[in-house]
Amino acid sequence: MSDLSKIQEAATLEELEKLRVELLGRKSRIAIGFASLKELDAERRQSAAAALNSDKEALTRAISLKKKELDENEQKKAIDRERIDVSLLDFDGINGSLHPVNLAMEQIVEYFVSMNFEIKTGPLIEDEFHNFEALNMPAHHPAREMQDTFYMNDGKVLRTHTSPVQIHTMLSQKPPIQMIAAGAVFRRDFDMTHTPMFHQVEGLAVSEGSGVSFANLKHILIDFLSFFFGDYPVRFRPSFFPFTEPSAEVDMGCIFCRGKGCRMCKHTGWLEVLGCGMVDPNVFKAVGYKNVSGYAFGLGVERLATLKYKIGDLRSIYDGELDLLEQFR
Ligand code: DAH
Repeated sequence: MSDLSKIQEAATLEELEKLRVELLGRKSRIAIGFASLKELDAERRQSAAAALNSDKEALTRAISLKKKELDENEQKKAIDRERIDVSLLDFDGINGSLHPVNLAMEQIVEYFVSMNFEIKTGPLIEDEFHNFEALNMPAHHPAREMQDTFYMNDGKVLRTHTSPVQIHTMLSQKPPIQMIAAGAVFRRDFDMTHTPMFHQVEGLAVSEGSGVSFANLKHILIDFLSFFFGDYPVRFRPSFFPFTEPSAEVDMGCIFCRGKGCRMCKHTGWLEVLGCGMVDPNVFKAVGYKNVSGYAFGLGVERLATLKYKIGDLRSIYDGELDLLEQFR
């Protein structure tokens, strides 16, 4: 077989490299030929050198062409080998989903953003001024007891509600304000209806003078509840919060029994869904606001999620049980 056809026949890059050494290396016919040129007389040396050069050139070109061809083949093989068949896996079987708390949170935030509420955030570790005092809960105020606070060593607290974000917001800007704050809150509490960490959405609207009324508050909350739950009766029941005056709790016709009375609504026909009221003058005083009016509301995201998705035990929401979670795909 001629040298050129040997090159043509090389099946792999290794074979080709071996051939290159054999045909052009130090011990090759061509190298030896060049080395022995000096033994020839001038005339024969010239023609022999010309012949050797043209052989060398032909071999070099053939090898480099073959190398290119083999390289391309290798690449094609690698692409074939590494190709991912995206139709192969049954993605239906392993799809994730949003957690019901995130799902509920997304819808709540979506509603209030669509109503022009600005999203605000605050720290999870608060000082007592923001978490309590500025919200009209001075030291030893009995309402602090209601909140089962986790205290840090330095006297700070894990925020017990999202209401302190109201204070951060009012201290950093002037009215008009229309904000919500969504996030985790913490309390020392654990049973069928309480987990030590849960989520709230706080709302606040403030305007100069008497621009914000209880009617505005009623309207936005009734509209929100019909967006979130659908069509159920809603009622405002007088209540107490230190940071609002007057205060109300909002009840919604029981979605389990449609108001007939059942275990879920403790046979009242009503489910308690959130707290609200007109911002207490002491709160405005704490942030240095004068001659303003405002409303505030606070809702528990887990509470709304368990009602909307009819989850009986709040704790199961954090058990990571696939049986529950897979229903939200
Ligand atoms: N901060 C209250 C809580 O955690 C919830 C709340 C009630 C917030 C009424 C408000 C409100 O802004 O007006 O229990």
